[in-house]
Amino acid sequence: MRIVLLGPPGAGKGTQAVSLMKEYDLVHVSTGDIFRYNIKNETELGKKVKSYLSAGKLVPDELTIDLVWSKLDSDECKEGFLLDGFPRTISQAEAFDKGLHKRGIQLDGVINIQVDKELLLTRLEGRRVCKHCGATYHCQNNPPKVEGVCDVCGGKVIQREDDKRETLLHRIEVYEQETAPLVDYYKDSGYMINVDGSKPINEVFETIKESLKKDR
Ligand code: AP5
Repeated sequence: MRIVLLGPPGAGKGTQAVSLMKEYDLVHVSTGDIFRYNIKNETELGKKVKSYLSAGKLVPDELTIDLVWSKLDSDECKEGFLLDGFPRTISQAEAFDKGLHKRGIQLDGVINIQVDKELLLTRLEGRRVCKHCGATYHCQNNPPKVEGVCDVCGGKVIQREDDKRETLLHRIEVYEQETAPLVDYYKDSGYMINVDGSKPINEVFETIKESLKKDR
C-alpha cells in the first residue's frame, strides 16, 4: 500500500502514521523526521536545512524531492510506504506524480486530515517529543508517566524548537499558502480521503481504515 498523509502542522499525521505503519506493515517516510535526524547528526544536509526548520520555512524543493525518491526507491519501501510531510507544494506534487508515473506505480490513498487552526495551536504548543526515539506526547492530554521522561525508551522529553508560538504560527501560514492548494490538486484524483482530525485519535484511525477499504 502507498499512502500520503496531508494536513496542517499538528493535524495528527505523525500520530496516525504510527498506527498505520503497524496495521499495514508500511515504512514511515517523514521528511520532517529525516531533516531533524540530519540536523541532530550535523550532516551536510543537516547544515543546509537547519535554518529553514528553525524559522518554520519550507526546505527548498531541490533538497527535498531527490531525498524522498532515494528513500522510496530503496528495498525497504518496495512493498509500500507512508509519506508524511511530502508533497508539500504543488511543484513537489507534480514532480512526485512524474516519478510515480515513470516507475509505473500508483497511490492507494491521499489522507487529508482536517483540523481547525485554534485546535492546531493548542495541540502544538502542548506537544512534547522524545529527543531519542521521537515518541509524541501532549503535556496536558497525553503526558508521559514521569514528567520529562519517555515512556517508550526513557529518553528526555522536550518541546520541538519549531513548536514555539511564533514559529508555529508561521508554519501554519506557510501551510495555508503552499500546502493547502494540494487539497484541490488531489481532489479529483480518485484517491483523496478527507478525515475529521479533531476526533479522538482512535476514531480518526478507524475512519481512515474504513475509507481505505472502499473503492474510490
Ligand atoms: P514536519 O515534521 O513534517 O512537521 P509538520 O507538518 O508541521 O507536522 P507536525 O509534525 O508538526 O504535526 P503532525 O501532523 O505530525 O501532528 P502530530 O501527530 O505530532 O515538518 C517540519 C519542518 O520540516 C517543516 O516546517 C519544514 O521546514 C520541513 N519540511 C518537512 N517536509 C518538507 C517538505 N516536503 N518540503 C519542504 N520542507 C519540509 O500531533 C500533534 C499533537 O497533537 C501531538 O501532541 C499529538 O499527541 C496530538 N494529537 C494528534 N492527534 C490527536 C487527536 N486526534 N486528538 C488529540 N490530540 C491529538
